[in-house]
Amino acid sequence: MCILSVLTLCMATIAEPTYSGSVAALLHKNCAGCHRSGEVGPFPLISYEDARKRAGFIAKQVRAKKMPPWKAEAGHGEFFDERRLTEAEISTLEAWAAAGAPRGDASAEPAVPTFTDGWQLGKPDLIVRMPAAFTIPADGRDIYQIFVMPSGLTETRTVAAIEFRPGNRRVVHHAIAIVDSTGTARRRDAATPEPGYPTFGGFGILPTGFLGGWAPGNLPHRLQEGMGRELPGGADIVVQIHYHPTGKPESDRSELGLYFTPKPAAKLVRNLPLVSRDIDIPAGESAYKRMVRFTTPEQLTVVGIMPHMHLLGREMKTRAIKPDGSEIPLVWIRDWDFNWQDTYLYRKPITVPAGTRFEVDAVYDNSAANPRNPQSPPKRVVWGEQTENEMCVCFMAVVTKDNAAAVKLRQEFFKQLVTPSMILRFLGGD
Ligand code: HEC
Repeated sequence: MCILSVLTLCMATIAEPTYSGSVAALLHKNCAGCHRSGEVGPFPLISYEDARKRAGFIAKQVRAKKMPPWKAEAGHGEFFDERRLTEAEISTLEAWAAAGAPRGDASAEPAVPTFTDGWQLGKPDLIVRMPAAFTIPADGRDIYQIFVMPSGLTETRTVAAIEFRPGNRRVVHHAIAIVDSTGTARRRDAATPEPGYPTFGGFGILPTGFLGGWAPGNLPHRLQEGMGRELPGGADIVVQIHYHPTGKPESDRSELGLYFTPKPAAKLVRNLPLVSRDIDIPAGESAYKRMVRFTTPEQLTVVGIMPHMHLLGREMKTRAIKPDGSEIPLVWIRDWDFNWQDTYLYRKPITVPAGTRFEVDAVYDNSAANPRNPQSPPKRVVWGEQTENEMCVCFMAVVTKDNAAAVKLRQEFFKQLVTPSMILRFLGGD
């Protein structure tokens, strides 16, 4: 062996990452939260053995940015709990797999992380639960079930944070909590024998308020001081839970903790759905585009954002164009996945002046080449809440200067975005 090749070999050995040197810490920090026993990840990534036997698969998934699951593109909004690996981290995992997943010095391995399973923000002011355990069969389609959890409150409170705690983390894929002050969800629940009632892409009712969403990996965060979401006395808390069958029968009884503001919040966080109901996607169309344009009549502070489409959705990009023409990117989901619908909370709320135009641009793929297409062969697709329907909504959580501004915003929302057919449909209780 000539000197040169020995040298190259040495250098390669030095540069080669090992499990104990860098990989273990990387996996514990970015993956183990979901990939450990009793969690949503399909296998643990805790020990050397866990990682070694999947080294190639791990490298492939992280390079393809499939894992860790985080759909929001960098540079389009800065959010809490971002799950994103750096280019250097991805290269480390690739180099490690390519080198045959070396362990390194086992005695220098970092300790297995400990996770706190209790309420992350301390004891909630109010805890509501599913009325009874819900059974998820071993296999079959994913289930979207709506559960009504009466608040039992007689007075209006404002909510600073919610914390959703899945009863069974293996099956719960995401949850969205809304408010119903009309009793409609209760009536729908009473009409089905099992706990709750089934839906797909919505609630089957028109929510009167919005509390927030949860997906694996999300941590609870309090709204900025002085801000809160309204929970009227007597209202029901209504939670949609998405269950993914695991291969064996499972049961879940999840709960939701609410943290109230110490005194009624002066700045109410409201839901502004940037919605286009005019969806009509021809069968086979692979890049169907929908857009929403909304100009706010009032100054707004955007606290959070939640893009929503169904299975044909491929992309959604939302931005704000200020009256001076400058642009603020709000969120860009470049590779939409119905399974990972996060509610994105801005690290720093974004305030824009009156006259700012919000632009939502969405793309759908209704071709046979889309593996997620629920219809084979593809069929024409219109707006609706079922699996074979589509939606185009970007929910924004916003705060207005005061109540009068909120009234104006609401009027403008109806003027610019709500079509008569939409109102009729909601009145029909569909
Ligand atoms: C927020 C939860 C979460 C985090 C964090 C996470 N995973 Fe996953 N992972 C999942 C779930 C759930 C699945 C099952 C497939 C799915 O639902 O997308 C999965 C699947 C996988 C798969 C198999 C993919 C397949 O198609 O079967 C690999 C490999 C993987 N994860 C590796 C990782 C690695 C490496 C990390 C950290 C860099 C990571 N995951 C972080 C939840 C997570």
